[in-house]
Amino acid sequence: MAEYRARGHVLLCGGTGCTASGAGAVRTRFEEELAARNMDREIKLVETGCHGMCEMGPIVVVYPEGTFYCRVEPEDVAEIVEEHLYKGRLVQRLLYKTPVTPQGVPHYKEIPFYSKQVRIALANCGYINPNNIEEYIARDGYVALAKALKEMSPEDVLQEVKTSGLRGRGGGGFPTGLKWEFCRKAAGTKKYTICNADEGDPGAFMDRSILEGDPHAVIEGMMLGAYAMGADEGYIYCRAEYPLAIKHLNEAIRQAEELGLLGDNVLDTSFSFHLHVKEGAGAFVCGEETALMASIEGERGMPRPRPPFPANKGLWGKPSNINNVETWANVPAIIRNGGAWYAAIGTEKSKGTKVFALTGKVKNTGLIEVPMGITIREVVFELGGGIINDKKFKAVQIGGPSGGCLTEAHLDTPVDYESLTAAGAIMGSGGLVVMDEATCMVDVAKFFLEFTQRESCGKCVPCREGTKKMLDILTRITEGKGKPEDMDNLAYLGNQIKNASLCGLGQTAPNPVLTTLRYFRHEYEAHILDKKCPAGACQSLLQYVIDGAKCIGCTKCARMCPVGAIAGEVKKPHVIDPAKCIKCGACEAACPVKAISKR
Ligand SMILES: Cc1cc2nc3c(=O)[nH]c(=O)nc-3n(C[C@H](O)[C@H](O)[C@H](O)COP(=O)(O)O)c2cc1C
Ligand code: SF4
Ligand code: SF4
Ligand code: FES
Repeated sequence: MAEYRARGHVLLCGGTGCTASGAGAVRTRFEEELAARNMDREIKLVETGCHGMCEMGPIVVVYPEGTFYCRVEPEDVAEIVEEHLYKGRLVQRLLYKTPVTPQGVPHYKEIPFYSKQVRIALANCGYINPNNIEEYIARDGYVALAKALKEMSPEDVLQEVKTSGLRGRGGGGFPTGLKWEFCRKAAGTKKYTICNADEGDPGAFMDRSILEGDPHAVIEGMMLGAYAMGADEGYIYCRAEYPLAIKHLNEAIRQAEELGLLGDNVLDTSFSFHLHVKEGAGAFVCGEETALMASIEGERGMPRPRPPFPANKGLWGKPSNINNVETWANVPAIIRNGGAWYAAIGTEKSKGTKVFALTGKVKNTGLIEVPMGITIREVVFELGGGIINDKKFKAVQIGGPSGGCLTEAHLDTPVDYESLTAAGAIMGSGGLVVMDEATCMVDVAKFFLEFTQRESCGKCVPCREGTKKMLDILTRITEGKGKPEDMDNLAYLGNQIKNASLCGLGQTAPNPVLTTLRYFRHEYEAHILDKKCPAGACQSLLQYVIDGAKCIGCTKCARMCPVGAIAGEVKKPHVIDPAKCIKCGACEAACPVKAISKR
């Protein structure tokens, strides 16, 4: 049979975001349309993982040109095939547009969201079919493993990771090579490597995207670690809410085993490694390493005191090493290109790149991988495209529920472990939420504390009771019932909980409250002393008022009000009775002359 070489590739995003916005139907239409035109052999369809711009999905990228089409509907497919694939003309209306390029950006790499990124952990996400091991191999996949097994000793691999300066991407930022060394040196012949894919931070999807889009990178990274540490078995602990990631992982493991890249005597060497996927039930605390191991063992996922550390006494009492998904995904590139190559990216103490889930009030939200040392300003205003509706930037919350809120004064802070910690936030696992002037910082602190309080496992009193007490105080403040001493009480409780809790959950839960108290104290004071929410976000503190000078007395608001709180004669200014008003906002929406506002 004649062999066909495709003249073009259509990459269809099959990540969770695009699948939810209808990528499956787009794929079906491409299959039908290409078949109907006898083009199905010259144009190859490839279903990839996430490109990071899920909000713009379904995403379709056409190669060799690298044209990036967004929000593609099944009805658009015929036009892409006819215009682009048949006649070689771009479909302008589907190109990505920025405020300065209303005509559309033709090439993927010219989109500001992508042009400042340095992709190592995400290198294959959006480029390859994650369910086809050959596509991973074609992008130098398993080259590092072969190099390690054939040309390097376990000590060499360990040294390369140390040279790279890689630090844990799961939150703590502990040097990976050092951690591996502890496990390597631990006594015992049976050892485990574990991948932490619990990813419990609200809004985070860095690890999910890597697992969905490039599962072999994680598997290869774990095997390199196992070789360096002397482990022969591994577990990937992934939350059950990530069904696509779990499916892709299991398929990747099956294919790697089939090719002799995983299992007994890998690549005909004496190195054997067996890998299992363990599904977690989705509790935030199960991301804590000792709780995670208890969960794998079938116990309730509760942290235990350390020492003993997992490196000495981990899974089933054996020396174990646990790393985050992104940490593992960096390892193959480090072994392939050398630790010095990786160490050349980033800052003096924070090497390489970091993946962030950029969310909140920025124009471009999504997944980004940036070199360490990039400033918060570059992330927010260049990759993120600035604040929606060109409102004023207020703060950025970095590090998820354990992180902190930084202000405009920190916009030029470099994104690295040391600088973020010095400013009062943390790198965390990669949550980056941008807030504008309409965000209430007391409400933000309450949101994160609500999460950690709910997720506390209850084992220790300071975390279980203390976070509840702090939440009660915050709730009172946002309801206009705050007392002047509340600010000191919050700070006192927060510091006590941090110092007295057993695990990282309790030790960091007060951070969002403590940083907002530090940088946005005036907002707490406004809520407590003036009974006002300066951002106009806390419902209980709002008052709807009618501007008598603007009101034309049309009566629309009075007719819309569900509780009869508005009085006034026709063609005369109306007034709202605050005692009756339930703050539903119906009058504001109904007023034709915008005479009603919240204060
Ligand atoms: C409450 C809590 C939740 C955590 N959740 C995660 C998680 O979802 N993923 C993760 O990699 N690390 C998580 N961690 C950090 C892990 O305990 C551990 O430090 C990390 O997996 C080590 O890998 P790394 O060195 O590659 O970062 C969590 C820690 C705490 C205290
Ligand atoms: S600090 Fe909180 S989450 Fe951690 S063990 Fe104690 S009660 Fe559980
Ligand atoms: S906010 Fe709702 S309840 Fe209050 S005055 Fe307006 S319409 Fe009536
Ligand atoms: S799922 Fe398609 S861009 Fe993220």
